[in-house]
Amino acid sequence: MIYFTGDTHREQDVAKINPDDKFPKGKELTSDDYLIVMGDFGFVYDGGKGDKFWLDWLESLPWTTCFIDGNHENFDLLNQYPQEQWHGGQIHRIRSNIVHLMRGEIFDIDHVRCFCFGGAPSHDAQYRVSNVNWWQEELPTMEQMKHAMHTLDKVGWKVDMVLTHEVFESHELATKYTTNMDNYGPEYFDCKLFLDEIEKKLDYKVWLHGHYHTDQVYQSPSNKPCISLFNRVITLEEIEKIKGE
Ligand SMILES: [Fe+2]
Repeated sequence: MIYFTGDTHREQDVAKINPDDKFPKGKELTSDDYLIVMGDFGFVYDGGKGDKFWLDWLESLPWTTCFIDGNHENFDLLNQYPQEQWHGGQIHRIRSNIVHLMRGEIFDIDHVRCFCFGGAPSHDAQYRVSNVNWWQEELPTMEQMKHAMHTLDKVGWKVDMVLTHEVFESHELATKYTTNMDNYGPEYFDCKLFLDEIEKKLDYKVWLHGHYHTDQVYQSPSNKPCISLFNRVITLEEIEKIKGE
């Protein structure tokens, strides 16, 4: 079974997936169960004792943890992990049962076809220090967007789910923060407009995202449910129930 949740920020918001805290059913899961975090995973951040302690803990849990990247990841460290093909798409292998679902890849996870595209702008980028607690790689490049289009071309623009950190431009949350592109190099793009193109063109059933630290449901322009995740940890069956909220 697959479980989906929002930002964990390493230990800061991890109680929702802690089997000894708010996720007791986690004790019964196996490596054939998947928990997917919608970005701001945060367990690859300081590269030191803190990350090691929390990655050791996460690796000790019985399920397979997957995450897309958000805007609070250390991309210098993340990009050093070995890349491999996993369930149909490219991942960074973080630990034996922890994988980073890379941008523009499609994965077949428990018979569900998921298109993944991490990344989002930090609204407080001007107060952060580049390559210390902020990375311009949080936004996608044209190359990554082209790669995503190519991947979708190969499956005829039909998937089951879209998993992102950011929302598409026409989503009601898209105007919550403004993005100052002066903080980024010329090869980086705010991904909302790109995601809007995807939303209009792609045949999918449900879109899940993180970033906004809220749990809500929004009906997309193409009349499909877009579920914002933060504290909820939900299964596909639960998604069916909350789609109409
Ligand atoms: Fe976050």
